[in-house]
Amino acid sequence: MTARVVLGVSGGIAAYKACELLRRFTESGHDVTVVPTASALEFVGAPTWAALSGKPVSTEVWTDVHVVPHVQIGQHADVVVVAPATANLLAKAAHGLADDLLTTTLLTARCPVVFAPAMHTEMWEHPATQANVATLRQRGAIVIEPAEGRLTGADTGKGRLPDPTEIFELVRGVLDRGAGSSTDLAGRKVVVSAGGTREYLDPVRFLGNRSSGLQGYALARAAASRGAHVTLVSANVSLADPAGVSVVRVETTEQLREAVVAATATADAVVMAAAPADFRPTAVSDAKIKKADDGSAPGIELEQNPDILAEISHDRARPGAVIVGFAAETGDATGSVLELGRAKLARKGCDLLVVNDVSGGAVFGSSDNEAVVLGADGASVEVPHGSKTALAHVIWDEVLRRFAD
Ligand code: CTP
Repeated sequence: MTARVVLGVSGGIAAYKACELLRRFTESGHDVTVVPTASALEFVGAPTWAALSGKPVSTEVWTDVHVVPHVQIGQHADVVVVAPATANLLAKAAHGLADDLLTTTLLTARCPVVFAPAMHTEMWEHPATQANVATLRQRGAIVIEPAEGRLTGADTGKGRLPDPTEIFELVRGVLDRGAGSSTDLAGRKVVVSAGGTREYLDPVRFLGNRSSGLQGYALARAAASRGAHVTLVSANVSLADPAGVSVVRVETTEQLREAVVAATATADAVVMAAAPADFRPTAVSDAKIKKADDGSAPGIELEQNPDILAEISHDRARPGAVIVGFAAETGDATGSVLELGRAKLARKGCDLLVVNDVSGGAVFGSSDNEAVVLGADGASVEVPHGSKTALAHVIWDEVLRRFAD
């Protein structure tokens, strides 16, 4: 789909990263109009934006007045993305000020609007900024949480512009869903686990599994593009942090359990897409285990890990929260894939179970998936072969349907 994208750029050092975002849009065939603020041009000049977008660039409403650009640009946009959004720009947008081309465009736009803030931690955390962000979200805008890390200068903290590729992915998700339904998870806190855990035998060796984390990351991205506040508990995944998602990194099942249980206390929904190891070595050697001279191999004694999904489903730390599990099944002499799925749903005590048939081993590391989503209420939703993103949206649709309020 070719969309008309308005890329607003306000005056922060991260303006240079918006060049990369602009390239992503144009290379994907989108029609991009860049609307910088006057202070954005202090960081990156108009010729750069004009050359990369293939269009003239203006900051104020007095250029090309005969085409009424401040009305026209906003009215015709399929999405407006402001990256970086400074504290000043957020304040103006929240209060409806309109003193340049970008702020007037924001008032005339009726399409989804995405703000990607970038600023110093103190400015982001200031009650004034937080109140402005809350106002914008409450009005239906998507305000991406800034990433944590190195800021301008020597300091680190929350306030970085997320990776431009990830902002692009989020906006693509917004465009795919179209206007109207883009923020149906706004105000919801969701937790997603992803990846596969490692159970250490010694400081260098572990038992692991083939989970790539792709489905969990797709779920996190999809929820963020629908306006949710997302915590992603990530076990040994080598994928970029999704924009606006707070990522907690873990290695072992016990660490995954701690992080998930802590985040579950305030969550509206939890999706356990991770593959935690069911067993761990009973003892972890402090030193690297050496080969024996006689050629013998050490035996590994295993003990069971906690079942996180069953634990949070039975404890129900937050009544009303919707809990989702995954089941990779092959079917066997005791039952078909779906029969085993139904039995697992009952055993785990969760609300939804996404059942994958992995007989061919095709799901691992693939960007596609097909599944059946089973509900404890008896529902059964078949999701045909498609992208993990498409499956993620079906899962969030089913979660949304089950929220009590
Ligand atoms: N899971 C979990 N904690 C574990 C193992 C699994 O929370 N220690 C979660 C997974 O994240 C997934 C679901 O449980 O959402 C299904 O995992 P699976 O390994 O298929 O379930 P098992 O109970 O191990 O069933 P089986 O007997 O088929 O291995």
